[in-house]
Amino acid sequence: MSQSRIPGFYELPMAERRIRIADFARTTPDELAAALDFGGIDPAAADNIVENVIGTYALPFGIALNFQVNAVDRLVPMVVEEPSVIAAASNAARMVRRGGGFLAEQPEALMIGQIEVHDVPDAVRAAAAVDGAREELLRRAVEAAPGLVPYGGGPRGLEIRDLGGGYVVVHVLVDCCDAMGANMVNTVAEALGPRIAELTGGSLGLRILTNLADRRRVRVSCRVPAAALVGRDRRTGQGGPDGAAERGVEISAAIETASRFAEADPYRAATHNKGIMNGVDAVAIATGNDWRAIEAGAHAFAARSGRYRPLSIWRRDGDALVGTLEMPMAVGIVGGTLRVHPAARVALKILAANSARDLAFALAAAGLASNLAAVRALATEGINRGHMALHARSVAVTVGASGREVDALVDRLVHGGVITLDAATEALAAIRDGR
Ligand code: MEV
Repeated sequence: MSQSRIPGFYELPMAERRIRIADFARTTPDELAAALDFGGIDPAAADNIVENVIGTYALPFGIALNFQVNAVDRLVPMVVEEPSVIAAASNAARMVRRGGGFLAEQPEALMIGQIEVHDVPDAVRAAAAVDGAREELLRRAVEAAPGLVPYGGGPRGLEIRDLGGGYVVVHVLVDCCDAMGANMVNTVAEALGPRIAELTGGSLGLRILTNLADRRRVRVSCRVPAAALVGRDRRTGQGGPDGAAERGVEISAAIETASRFAEADPYRAATHNKGIMNGVDAVAIATGNDWRAIEAGAHAFAARSGRYRPLSIWRRDGDALVGTLEMPMAVGIVGGTLRVHPAARVALKILAANSARDLAFALAAAGLASNLAAVRALATEGINRGHMALHARSVAVTVGASGREVDALVDRLVHGGVITLDAATEALAAIRDGR
């Protein structure tokens, strides 16, 4: 089995990185180049996706390493403009790997279509009428989305909700298999609308899926040995410093405290969840999925108790730190953008996602890894040091440092506190002169 751990990957030239990734993903560097050069999509294709196109807009496409999800190594493609997200996720995934990787599950994968009727004269009778017509309505639903049935999907059930004030909402539950399914669910909802209005005696209102896809939730967890939370010295490659076990326990405690802060305070929970979405959105964008839908579902789910809460929690358990994340994950590996976006298709190939479920698991794992990296940094050295080191690294490479010079220059810049091209040029000259 190929390993998602590729030591020194960040130091390789891009062409070499492509060779490594192509090797893992059973593709070729040429195929990667064809899909990723020129921003991943050409203007003519873009012109067929949305309206009034005048060009395309590219973002960096990188690979998060070290992921192991349900015992399978995965390279996780990420599209993101924020420095350090990919490095941080890779780093956290390496820590999680030492505890056996991520465990993910999805007990059911149903999308919900809403059919709303209003001015219903008697909600109790309306609910009874819809209930009595379940079989007929489900038959109509199957007729509206016949394509799902051969794949083992299709409509699965109906739920009736009385919102008060004459509003009745019928939910139709649909298994969309490997598609995100928005169009199919909307088609089913529209097909049932008139009959539901008739049964309830109300006026037909909206027919559309809900992004609060709480019947398509994923749950991912990890158990990180405390000692794995202690940083590794990048230059020596050694595990943590002496006293790693105690330091690891201190870091676990600090992360648990940070988690409890988010659980107690919606202001912190919003930022905690932003750290999760750094990972989730980056993978969603890379794989051509609707990240606004995922965002909407995530935040609605976070507020489901009436108070906005973190999507993940962290607790110490013996000499380990245990993290759990649960959130709706309405994603697909077929249809939509994937038909027309070469970079999204290659992203799925790199991820080796053979089902929507594989993809949902990888997204959630990327979210939990990003979250771990953020709260670990915040609860220990603060977020800026890591950001500064990455910034210094890119400045070091820009001024021409190579090989071992990069680390030496990064150290000088970070310790000197001034990270500019001028300072880096001067410091590099000093290193080369042995000063
Ligand atoms: C920055 O993109 C994300 C963080 O603010 C997340 C967090 O505070 O947990 C660092």
